[in-house]
Amino acid sequence: MTAPDVRRLVTDALDRIARAEGPAAVRSLEAELLGRRSQLATLRSGLGALAPEARKEAGRELNAARARVEEALATRRAEVDEAERRSRLEAERLDLTEVVPTRRRGHLHLVTQARDRLEDVFVGMGYTVAEGPEAESDWYNFEALNFPADHPARAMYDTLYLELGAPESTLLRTHTSPVQVRVMEATQPPIYSVMPGRCYRQDTADASHLPNFHQIEGLVVDRHITLGDLAGTLDAFTEAYFGPGFRSRLRPSYFPFTEPSAEFDITCVFCKGDGCRTCGRTGWLELGGCGMVHPNVFRAVGYDPETWSGFAFGFGIDRMVIMRHGIDDLRELVSNDVRFLRQF
Ligand code: PHE
Repeated sequence: MTAPDVRRLVTDALDRIARAEGPAAVRSLEAELLGRRSQLATLRSGLGALAPEARKEAGRELNAARARVEEALATRRAEVDEAERRSRLEAERLDLTEVVPTRRRGHLHLVTQARDRLEDVFVGMGYTVAEGPEAESDWYNFEALNFPADHPARAMYDTLYLELGAPESTLLRTHTSPVQVRVMEATQPPIYSVMPGRCYRQDTADASHLPNFHQIEGLVVDRHITLGDLAGTLDAFTEAYFGPGFRSRLRPSYFPFTEPSAEFDITCVFCKGDGCRTCGRTGWLELGGCGMVHPNVFRAVGYDPETWSGFAFGFGIDRMVIMRHGIDDLRELVSNDVRFLRQF
């Protein structure tokens, strides 16, 4: 064995070490290059056959060769270990930014929020919440509410009829009052209920009308209920929903299903009662209708009007929303413009 042989052996070894990929390859290369059956080991065991001087020389050379191979292996091992660690981290990596939204989250529509709050206010006053269908029969929407066929008050409601059954027998409810009838049919007094929901009228949408809008109906039936109970309830509601300083008042009106009937006004939200253009300088804004339940309505559901008395009210949720938030056009609520919706 000559010195150039050892050098070639080292050069080959270093070359293979440099190309080894992965910790396992480095480990097996280490066994092959430095193990008991390696060329270096074989050369070392041949040293004994040399003359002392030559043995010393060759021994030094073999030691140096072994040291270089060991060093190269150590360096390569560190490199492949680091590469493997990186690829493992890469595989385990969780991109948390993926689930952190960069945009705002959505939320309930303004009208739904208002409906929920209204329900909460009444539930807080001891009321239950009931619902009824949007497609109604003439009986529930009109007849049972003391609007006989051809009653002129039917003209107050621009009814949308459905082509179902006999002509004009099925319609999209024009108010939530038919749910009063359904609640009374299903239960016995005392009743303290609110009934929110969608209503439909043949109206062209403008700043203060929508053909599809929302009402919340209220119905109380018990013994000895008076108009004073109605006025007090509406006043308590007004303050709970709009805040301290807001009052309500009743103005005489007409509905076939209540007697006496009234319009229900609240302190103008824009001028707080001083009088402005929006409230026609009166200081009041109209919120809905109300009154004492008509005896004919009690008769229609089989209640004895001599035993029971009650009041009902119904107001527009959409209108209440725009009043509460100072929005000047009802159509904003259905424009589906996120720049508008996002503000609430
Ligand atoms: N349903 C009536 C309307 O929509 C409002 C109302 C409800 C009036 C209850 C009196 C009692 O016009």
